Amino acid sequence: MARRTRSATRQDARAIAAAHVASWRENYRGLLSEEAIAKRTFEYRLEMWTRFLDEPQRSTLIACGENDEVIGFVSATAMRPPEFGFDAYLQTLYLLASEKGAGTGKALLRACATDLIARGCRNMALRTLRLNPARGFYEHLGARLLPPDFPLDAGHFDDVAYAFDNLQRLQDA
Ligand SMILES: CC(C)(COP(=O)(O)OP(=O)(O)OC[C@H]1O[C@@H](n2cnc3c(N)ncnc32)[C@H](O)[C@@H]1OP(=O)(O)O)[C@@H](O)C(=O)NCCC(=O)NCCS
Repeated sequence: MARRTRSATRQDARAIAAAHVASWRENYRGLLSEEAIAKRTFEYRLEMWTRFLDEPQRSTLIACGENDEVIGFVSATAMRPPEFGFDAYLQTLYLLASEKGAGTGKALLRACATDLIARGCRNMALRTLRLNPARGFYEHLGARLLPPDFPLDAGHFDDVAYAFDNLQRLQDA
């Protein structure tokens, strides 16, 4: 069964940072170099999430386990004006490996879509590693592969870009 989700607050920064580090270690071994994973320390992620959770244009939700611990999170930015034809950009969607496949990723993404729609967004772009099995998840939920030269947030990794052209449809998925 999918885990409970709620909006994140500044107080969640440490728990999200810890889950982020764990999720990269568990899910990205073999997809990214050990060096790239090791560089994203808890301190690195804490600085990032402290900043992210202060951004008013950002929608961040967490999924909680039985003891209220963070087991997954999603974060997207609403863009005003739109960039490259998109109103929103999905930066992160991660679960602990043990939590995958129970509907929680979909629940987080749908809740994020609901929040972005309330902010006036209609569509959303994202990037994911070229070899990431998560591509199947996004495609299953209706994402469209964008051309290889799609520029938004490009150049960090060997990745591909996708579009959710209709957030309303994603919300109802
Ligand atoms: C990608 C991720 C967020 C998906 O979350 P999840 O909870 O495992 O997926 P869900 O159980 O919510 O799956 C939702 C639907 O997608 C399908 N699905 C899930 N993963 C899939 C995959 N790899 N390929 C095809 N379909 C997939 C499910 O069968 C389910 O279908 P249904 O709604 O018709 O029953 C999660 O697996 C994860 O955190 N992966 C590691 C980190 C990562 O790569 N994140 C993406 C970074 S860009």
